[in-house]
Amino acid sequence: MKNNRNIILSVQDLSAGYYIDGRYVNVLQNISLNIREGETFAVVGQSGSGKSTLALAIMGLLPIDNGKIINGRIQFYKEDLIKTIKDIRGKEISIVLQDPHSYLNPVIKVGRQVREALEIYGVGMTSSEIDAKIKDTFKKVKLDDIERIYNSYPHQLSGGQKQRILIAMSIINNPKVLIADEPTSGLDLPVQKQILELFAELKEQMNLTLLIITHNILIAKKFSDTAAVLLNGEVVETGNSEEIFLKPKHEYTKLLCGHAARMYRKG
Ligand SMILES: Nc1ncnc2c1ncn2[C@@H]1O[C@H](COP(=O)(O)OP(=O)(O)OP(=O)(O)O)[C@@H](O)[C@H]1O
Ligand SMILES: [Mg+2]
Repeated sequence: MKNNRNIILSVQDLSAGYYIDGRYVNVLQNISLNIREGETFAVVGQSGSGKSTLALAIMGLLPIDNGKIINGRIQFYKEDLIKTIKDIRGKEISIVLQDPHSYLNPVIKVGRQVREALEIYGVGMTSSEIDAKIKDTFKKVKLDDIERIYNSYPHQLSGGQKQRILIAMSIINNPKVLIADEPTSGLDLPVQKQILELFAELKEQMNLTLLIITHNILIAKKFSDTAAVLLNGEVVETGNSEEIFLKPKHEYTKLLCGHAARMYRKG
């Protein structure tokens, strides 16, 4: 990945956290990231390191009752994303949230949920154009048996199918940036692999810039061009993924890499 592409998403000195019992607790500490057009960028860190908080802060989805950005800037190209995200969320920038089960509405057929994701921005599309777009998106995410799946409730689908539905919702408006927060958690190993390969294919097909959030350093190593390692809400190391994971500098990255290597040897 060449380093001369434009920066599409940048986070500068971002600090954010949550109010708990009226007291502010900081989670993200002066995070800075530059994500370039067309790359896959991975944010890696253990549970609780603040990965989802970062994703939610970028998407303007921190809980309104207790989440807060206290400092820093987020830019989509030169645009102040903290101000504009509500107008472009789901369109220019989309997210596949962690924990799909709590995100899909259990009492609405998934086809209708995908349709709603499209209709937010699909103003002026005729009903048959909408149908065609939904079918096309189902094909893109490799859901077969389209009619049946369209008319299913979430509980009638497998974990992998549900994840594909969420991916369909996230790409249906042709975003430029797609964020995937732990996109394979809770899935069987073969399905994890299929989903990661699907992201890689969609990225090529749709010219996406991907931000993959994962605790799994092997996923980051295999699927990303650039990575940032998060520890207790701080970026401790960032740069070319291959370099980071082959020659980690920070002690924590070394620890993650050593752990991954041992897991790998055990098979
Ligand atoms: N809504 C919330 N209110 C208060 N604290 C929160 C909230 N959401 C997250 N936190 C806290 O913020 C910290 C970071 O959580 P976050 O979910 O961002 O971590 P994560 O890296 O995504 O973890 P995981 O890998 O388990 O998904 C944790 O200490 C968590 O308890
Ligand atoms: Mg998380």
